Amino acid sequence: MCDFRNSEINSADKQTLNGKVLKPENLCFGVGSDESIDAIMRVLCVPGKDKLLTCPPTYGMYAVSAQINDVEVVSINMNFIKGKFSIKPDEINARLAEDPSIKLAYICSPGNPTGSLIEKADIIKVLEHPTWNGIVVVDEAYIDFAPEGTSMAPLVNKYPNLLVMQTLSKSFGLAGVRCGVSFASPDLSRLLNSMKAPYNISTPTARLASRVLSPEGIKVMKGLVKKIIVQRDRLVRELPKLQGIGEFVGGEDANFLLVEIIDKDGKPSNDIARQVYTKLAEFRNVIVRYRGKEPGCTGCLRISIGNEEETTILLKELQSVLAEIYSE
Ligand SMILES: Cc1ncc(COP(=O)(O)O)c(C=O)c1O
Repeated sequence: MCDFRNSEINSADKQTLNGKVLKPENLCFGVGSDESIDAIMRVLCVPGKDKLLTCPPTYGMYAVSAQINDVEVVSINMNFIKGKFSIKPDEINARLAEDPSIKLAYICSPGNPTGSLIEKADIIKVLEHPTWNGIVVVDEAYIDFAPEGTSMAPLVNKYPNLLVMQTLSKSFGLAGVRCGVSFASPDLSRLLNSMKAPYNISTPTARLASRVLSPEGIKVMKGLVKKIIVQRDRLVRELPKLQGIGEFVGGEDANFLLVEIIDKDGKPSNDIARQVYTKLAEFRNVIVRYRGKEPGCTGCLRISIGNEEETTILLKELQSVLAEIYSE
């Protein structure tokens, strides 16, 4: 894992790191990233007292884990500029300055459901907060679908208040294996490792993880990612040709796209988006995600990218369902 991420450090980050590369003491493996999301909360937040910050629209498990751990969620919505969501570092920093009970700031990059990579400079602005004493958690579940060199993981040896989470569930296609990893300073990693239940990473999971993280395994993963990106580019070209498809609201840094469904007047429509979602799921065996209720996502469906055949089926069924709804 360390060799893989060290091999991708970009030259600008390399210069600031002064040779401090990732080592095993920076790691803590978990039962999927979902365990890491929960673990850091249990390490740093006092239930009923402390808070965490999220930037909606974002991954739902931060709020679910917060609720389970009795930790209040403070939200600073992202900027909704079509095609590129971004965080608001100044607003985040102001909020962190006025409320020291916020112990964690969760930033998802590339975002779910936005598909937008967050600018490193914006995250660094939060990391370099002059007074706040908490941890910035960067969830990089989809990082392998973004350009190489964009991961923040190597920077944990520069910023002791940074924790980066990754997983084998997305680019490696091994969601059922349940293996995630967090990168952090050796001190924070030691804390995370010492509160884990003994042996909670099973031997089959550990064996599979070391196999897919070998140089040959990484090559296979990169080949699969390339194929997904070909299909992502195909959907970027083909979806706008369909009647009822509006603009791409999110970015192109993950293995899904966030796209508007529009009404006859060209306005994004939650009603039609929900109809499309239901018809696809119930009658066409195609599952997409309805995200219309999330901030900045009115009328949006989140469409995961599959293989060539699945993309052909998606385009055909989506066109047919939209034609059906538009003719009613
Ligand atoms: C942004 C993000 N983080 C983390 C996860 C959790 O992944 P896992 O627990 O399978 O590693 C997901 C899964 O959908 C996700 O979208």
